[in-house]
Amino acid sequence: SSFLLSALAIGYLLGSIPFGLVLTRLFGKGDIREIGSGNIGATNVLRTGSKGLAAATLILDALKGTAAVLIAQRYFPAHEVAAAGAAMIGHLYPLWLKFRGGKGVATYLGVLIPLFPAGAAIYAAMWIGFLLVLRFSSLAGMAAAISAPLFAWTQQRSDLLPLLTALTLLVLWKHRENIARLRAGSEPRVGRSKA
Ligand code: G3P
Repeated sequence: SSFLLSALAIGYLLGSIPFGLVLTRLFGKGDIREIGSGNIGATNVLRTGSKGLAAATLILDALKGTAAVLIAQRYFPAHEVAAAGAAMIGHLYPLWLKFRGGKGVATYLGVLIPLFPAGAAIYAAMWIGFLLVLRFSSLAGMAAAISAPLFAWTQQRSDLLPLLTALTLLVLWKHRENIARLRAGSEPRVGRSKA
């Protein structure tokens, strides 16, 4: 239907706004894709040395996912799951960046907030907890992502399982270089030695 197409288009367009790239460029930090991991997400923005820009990237990359789902809930309520999925695809595979987008951890949290608030709370707790204890942003993000479909399953939210399972698999796939670095012992930790 045209409602489904609208939900998908709005989700994709919002999701594909690369806030990390835009903000670092705007504030004279160069091309984020040539720094650190080359990723456009908040973790890599932090490697420019700007905590403020990293925080803004995290918040805006989350809010674009939240906005996509809220718009769908308001105007195309049957298609909130489609909007959430499209926002994530937009972030992970933005047309404007030749489909080389981010890794999805912040945007995933953003879509969960309106879609599954309790799941969003668990996700945030997992993310912060793993980050504080182990200080690997990638591992914390993956742990949070894995918690989402597992928690939905324990909460009898089987309606969300196809979406959340797919999103988690995509997030893990996007972290394949991080997984290789974690296994090799070469993944940098957050908030320690300045690289
Ligand atoms: O959210 C992205 C994070 O999980 C990993 O980022 O730059 O360390 O590859 P990065």
